[in-house]
Amino acid sequence: MKQKILVTGGTGYIGSHTVVELQNAGYEVVIIDNLSNSNADVVDNIEKVSGIRPAFEKVDCLDYEGLEAVFAKYEGIKAIIHFAASKAVGESVEKPLKYYRNNLMSLVNLLELMPKYHVGGIVFSSSCTVYGQPDILPVTEEAPIKKAESPYGNTKQINEEIIRDTVASGAPINAILLRYFNPIGAHPTALLGELPNGVPQNLIPYLTQTAIGIRQQLSVFGDDYDTPDGSCIRDFINVVDLAKAHVVAIDRILEKKQAEQVEVFNIGTGRGLSVLELIHAFEASTGVKLNYKIVGRRAGDIEKVWANPERANNVLGWKATATIEDTLRSAWNWQLKLRERGIQ
Ligand code: UD1
Repeated sequence: MKQKILVTGGTGYIGSHTVVELQNAGYEVVIIDNLSNSNADVVDNIEKVSGIRPAFEKVDCLDYEGLEAVFAKYEGIKAIIHFAASKAVGESVEKPLKYYRNNLMSLVNLLELMPKYHVGGIVFSSSCTVYGQPDILPVTEEAPIKKAESPYGNTKQINEEIIRDTVASGAPINAILLRYFNPIGAHPTALLGELPNGVPQNLIPYLTQTAIGIRQQLSVFGDDYDTPDGSCIRDFINVVDLAKAHVVAIDRILEKKQAEQVEVFNIGTGRGLSVLELIHAFEASTGVKLNYKIVGRRAGDIEKVWANPERANNVLGWKATATIEDTLRSAWNWQLKLRERGIQ
């Protein structure tokens, strides 16, 4: 029988790609999502890509009774991948309590329900934001956790601690914390991708919207950083590669291969690319010229961060494989497809 995995936030950007990879690997998936930042038709597109329709329940993770009803209805859930969270750094500064409530209470609810329904594993969406500006690059999982720059970042740090404390208290839970670097790109079918609400805050959606003419100009936030070309450096990780990291993490938990009850892995490529390099790579790989200009720095930005992914490479047996050119083309194809569908 197929093993059942609950995916919270499964209609979101990373969640939807992960659902497909779980299905490809033979797992049965139950999605819950409150659709606050996604659309129910993502479920149709997941089915188009994988050929399998996942179960879907519109439930908010803050709704304890609603959540419990899902655990009861889909008996035998083996593990959870917890994506559902608010994720806009700027908004979190404006509305910290929204972030603390959403991101912390959702996890608390899940962790309380897991033992009751004999769900023994959880993979948690963490972020390289927990490192702040690392002193040593590429950054390893041993790097110190720096004071968070935003309430959003703080919720990721606190969530990691909530999981560690819960496991340390003796709860029968095995956890893997995946610290993502900068996920970009879309599914090669162009049926799944990132669909930001309103004006995008993140680089790639803003860039592709500029390229297609929805936005007039891309602002590059700063060219006076201490980097070779002066723009910030990030580790841009293909979203399908990232999705596959979740499958191997789930395999590892269910096959009881963990060395510790809580393990943490960087999920990145190991390669840092500057914002300007990324723009030029986009132009070269798509043939589309981009209208951009250098403006001042954005408050709260980290100068440079990229992963040392060796632990994930060696222990999980996972490695990022997509080229940046293919990844950028996939992001562009997704933007073209959105126009074709009359969405953006
Ligand atoms: C941030 C968070 C990350 C979070 C992610 C999702 C930090 C340190 N990082 O990533 O944890 O998961 O958001 O929302 O909190 N840029 C431009 N012009 C733009 C947009 C971005 O030049 O219009 C630049 C930024 O200055 C930055 C880079 O592009 O240097 C990447 O920005 P972005 O895509 O927003 O991601 P992060 O800020 O790295």
